Amino acid sequence: MIALENITLLYEGREVLKDFSLNIPPKERLVILGASGSGKTTLLRLIAGFVAPAKGEITINGSIVAKEGKILIPPHKRAIGMVFQDLALWPHMNVEENIAFGLKVHKVPRKTRKEKVLEMLRLVGLEGYEKRRIDQLSGGQQQRVAFARALALSPKVLLMDEPLSSLDPELNRRLRKEIVRLQEVLGFTLVYVTHSEEEAKEIGERKIILKGSVD
Ligand SMILES: Nc1ncnc2c1ncn2[C@@H]1O[C@H](COP(=O)(O)OP(=O)(O)O)[C@@H](O)[C@H]1O
Ligand SMILES: [Mg+2]
Repeated sequence: MIALENITLLYEGREVLKDFSLNIPPKERLVILGASGSGKTTLLRLIAGFVAPAKGEITINGSIVAKEGKILIPPHKRAIGMVFQDLALWPHMNVEENIAFGLKVHKVPRKTRKEKVLEMLRLVGLEGYEKRRIDQLSGGQQQRVAFARALALSPKVLLMDEPLSSLDPELNRRLRKEIVRLQEVLGFTLVYVTHSEEEAKEIGERKIILKGSVD
């Protein structure tokens, strides 16, 4: 269970989220909607541990992970995976190196890393692509590599920030089905940010809408 309690976040003295509370039960697929600038990305960054709330506290499975301006548990200790809006794949690494990166950081032995990469590639339908460079992949394939990289460490929670917004409608439809399937097979909690009502309807078991500014 992820619990955000009375969170207020300040950017340069400006409140982004104000007295915001949210509980996310395990294995839920939660969709976050809201206008541009309403704080959707910020909410994911709070859950991941990249920013601390000025007020309030965040609890994950009963442990306080951030409280009143302080991060108590850093991102790499939260068992959370993230797919960023721009994917943020490393262009100088091939597919295998991208997926294995987090495993390497966590000192997983080489053989296990290899096996895990193959398992992830099977899972996202990219068998045989280990040695491809990122710029030799289509948009949809890059998306799948980003999913595989985020899932390689078996996170309990997966955060996705408008991951399909740059894809054409057909690919978008296909990959959102894929995301639901991955969540059902692996059983992680999914927090999914989108602008699209269609994506929200298909992916979300529950949706919340952040109120606030259009920049
Ligand atoms: N690192 C930052 N420093 C200052 N202001 C920021 C920063 N990140 C986001 N903001 C501001 O916080 C508000 C919410 O941003 P964001 O969470 O990116 O919104 P969304 O993802 O919903 O479009 C915006 O007004 C944005 O300009
Ligand atoms: Mg955003």
